[in-house]
Amino acid sequence: MKIGVFDSGLGGLVITKALIEALPQYDYLYYGDSAHLPYGDKTSGTILNYTLQAMKYLIANDCKLIIIACNTATAITLRYIQQRFIPVYAPDIKVLGVVIPTVEVATEQNKTRVGVIATNATVRSQIYTTELQKLNPNCLVTEVAAPELVPAIEANDFAKAEKIVHFYAANFRDCQSLILGCTHYPLVKDYFRQELPNVEIVSQDELMGAKLTDYLQRHPEIETALTHGYKREFQVSRSDEKAHRVAQILFDDINLRQAV
Ligand code: DGL
Repeated sequence: MKIGVFDSGLGGLVITKALIEALPQYDYLYYGDSAHLPYGDKTSGTILNYTLQAMKYLIANDCKLIIIACNTATAITLRYIQQRFIPVYAPDIKVLGVVIPTVEVATEQNKTRVGVIATNATVRSQIYTTELQKLNPNCLVTEVAAPELVPAIEANDFAKAEKIVHFYAANFRDCQSLILGCTHYPLVKDYFRQELPNVEIVSQDELMGAKLTDYLQRHPEIETALTHGYKREFQVSRSDEKAHRVAQILFDDINLRQAV
């Protein structure tokens, strides 16, 4: 049985790379729903519909543990998937998201002024504010949507992405930490660090490996079901030349296949 990683596009490859570095022994299946990107500008119903299709695909392809590496899909669908879908459709499968591990890291050392930059749908859900204030009711959260950033990254236009980061950084100068609340943003984390040298930038590629390691240590019933074959499969719902170029930033020899 494999670890499945799902994202709305290629951004989740950043998280997959971090997971593989931390836990190389397992078999991974990545599925990016690039045909429907961006999720961040869609309605909650549409995001749920596409995410459920992706869950069914990963379950049908032998995933025992699924990480929803997409912040937008986590924000809008994780609760429904964990509480309503999985118990009926596949009770032996575990599905985890990226928001809770990120919030835990962002509030370390008692930080109370936290920024979040994310997609429209993630900001609309207010999931980060809700979860941050559950951990610390005094936390002041500044959530801002940057809908132009994902398309620039997916188009491999990093000059444009740098300008967009410069524009949005002004919102977060008073924060102690800034959550990059979108799986694509670790690809431009250096721009955020240059713009905001006094703010701790919380980048999911730097925390998910340790969080998954910890989870598997605490859940031997999942860990023992995972096969140790060092295999990696990367699939997208639409594969084209641009997708390959972005994927190659992360994995030089990637074989990005069209999902069937
Ligand atoms: N991967 C999504 C996220 O982490 C962003 C891309 C999209 O809008 O689909 O929020």
